[in-house]
Amino acid sequence: MNKITCRATSNIAFTKYWGRIDDTLRLPMNGSVSMNLEAATTTTTVAFDPSLEADTIHPNSLSLKDKQAARVFAQLDRIRQRADITTRAWVATHNNFPMGAGIASSASGFAALTVAAAHAAGLDLTERELTILARQGSGSACRSIPAGFVEWHYGETDAASYAEMIAPPDHWDIHDLIAITQSEHKTVGSAEGNALVTTSPFNSTRVQLAQQSVETIRAGILARDWTAFGEETEREAIRLHMVAMTSVPPIFYWKPVTLAIIQAVIAWRQAGLQAYYTIDAGANVHVLAQAADADTVAARLRAIEGISDVLHSLVGQGARLLEAHLF
Ligand code: DP6
Repeated sequence: MNKITCRATSNIAFTKYWGRIDDTLRLPMNGSVSMNLEAATTTTTVAFDPSLEADTIHPNSLSLKDKQAARVFAQLDRIRQRADITTRAWVATHNNFPMGAGIASSASGFAALTVAAAHAAGLDLTERELTILARQGSGSACRSIPAGFVEWHYGETDAASYAEMIAPPDHWDIHDLIAITQSEHKTVGSAEGNALVTTSPFNSTRVQLAQQSVETIRAGILARDWTAFGEETEREAIRLHMVAMTSVPPIFYWKPVTLAIIQAVIAWRQAGLQAYYTIDAGANVHVLAQAADADTVAARLRAIEGISDVLHSLVGQGARLLEAHLF
């Protein structure tokens, strides 16, 4: 029984994936750009075992809820189909951060699962092929396979919708201070939120602006232009939440403390501390800072009431295989 273990990081998107043109293939309405988060990882071990009658989540593993387990098994099916095998698998997985808290656990989870399972099934895939496969499991997962700063290209076919590195982790020392305001599972997951976008009258405007947003963010990263990068990152985050809040039914991911952090970051900037915020489908706020300001930002966030923890992440590597297994 060939056991393979992969560790992948979560990622934070600057231009966001929010809405799909194809739900089955998970083809997004627009391209997106992110950086990997070295501090937020999922480690997953997969082994195909001929004695198993059904795919099995290993008892040592964090207990996956039924809906999540079903998505994991569906991803194993895609990999089996590709490898032309029918053998069932053991899967164990461990996150080093709280699930469903606005840190994309599905990104690191499906990236690690896809790479581990593809290797365990004997597939020899390129990085691009792995991103395409991971995307079918969870959209944002495709951005957790390449290293560093990553673009998920807009494409209207399975083959054209893939992710690749635009700059390595050491290109730019950006720190992400993740203010945890919520550790219980959020009520509306990204999968459901993504499916509602067309009910918002503002969705088409966001999608129209998104391609320009990708260009601005990519150029900002390549030129290390902090202001251009930060300003566009904030605008795009607000556009995502505008679409969520105007969907039918509306989705309010924010808590009062979410807005308090946004206002604090704006005030800090006016006083000279150059930090910018972004927010995924949750109440947590990712505050981006350059290396020299990171500790100051972390300390100021810790002083805000309603923040239970601050995770400090550097730019992460891509998905990598490990020697040590979870079972
Ligand atoms: C707000 O990748 O979690 O974090 O494809 O349904 O698994 P599924 O959605 P998911 O959506 C992430 C949405 C986001 C923005 C982003 O990461 O681009």
